[in-house]
Amino acid sequence: MDAARLSDKVAVVTGGASGIGRSTVLRFLAEGAKVVVGDLNMKAADQLVSDAAASDRLYVIRTDVSEEAEVEALIGAATDRFDRLDIVFNNAGIGGAFGPIIEIDVDDWDRTFAILTRSVFLGIKHGARALIEQGHGGSIINTASVAGLAGGSGPQAYSAAKAAVINLTLTTADELAPHRIRVNAICPGVIFTPLAVGRHPERLAEAVAALQPWPDHGSGDDIAAAALWLASDESHFVTGEAIRVDGGLMAAGTRISSGSDPYRVWQRYAGFAYGTSGKPAHKRPVTGEPK
Ligand code: NAI
Repeated sequence: MDAARLSDKVAVVTGGASGIGRSTVLRFLAEGAKVVVGDLNMKAADQLVSDAAASDRLYVIRTDVSEEAEVEALIGAATDRFDRLDIVFNNAGIGGAFGPIIEIDVDDWDRTFAILTRSVFLGIKHGARALIEQGHGGSIINTASVAGLAGGSGPQAYSAAKAAVINLTLTTADELAPHRIRVNAICPGVIFTPLAVGRHPERLAEAVAALQPWPDHGSGDDIAAAALWLASDESHFVTGEAIRVDGGLMAAGTRISSGSDPYRVWQRYAGFAYGTSGKPAHKRPVTGEPK
């Protein structure tokens, strides 16, 4: 496989100073890209610059992704500084409004949507403008969440905002395809970043152990690998996709048949159940220990 899958490509990454964004910036740089980072946290951004081996291909601008003029300037910096744009990773995020629905302030609701959804709209709008003007296509990637796919994975405003990101991904993938601009979303599950871990890493680890089928903790590098594939030409026929990277969290679904039964007793037998048809079920004990 080509060692540098993004050589000659220029990427904009929002929220690149921490967590998923930081992992992705470092991966994109390692794959030969030039990267412009937009983030609010300049302390974390300075740390990124000092940790990056190829810091000559990295440029950071303080950006609030909920402000149109700032997103426009961020996109403009890619073409000003590195003469082109190929990839826009709309990734910055926060937890936003929380609490019972009857308690949530409307300003907190709106701020959540501004940072999680308006930001993605702005990144697509100004990213697509620049890509259309250049005329050689490109890849736009939006960080959504499994919280946007079902209830029960996050606060109301956060989940609704992420669901909106997924739908915006679909509609703009359709609209921008004639320009060879692909638009995809990544739906991370639980990723052990500063945002998710917070002040109680042990609580998160406990919840993950109970719910996530895959034994390892999700890391920023897992999302960076998916972003790399979506950014690279290897995914050139993939657009309008929302890829779950969640260690099987969503695949495990409702867990009605296993979640309430830690020993998975139902897996100790194999056979066939005829339901209420009157025919008796047949079953035999399985060989070996249930997993
Ligand atoms: P993080 O907190 O480690 O990194 C987020 C970055 O976004 C930070 O550097 C922060 O300064 C920046 N940021 C926040 N508000 C900003 C704004 N208004 N303008 C510019 N930059 C801003 O968080 P993490 O976990 O890496 O999150 C990245 C994305 O992944 C977010 O969109 C989050 O919702 C999403 N996500 C995270 C999951 C997780 O388990 N960590 C799960 C699903 C989705």
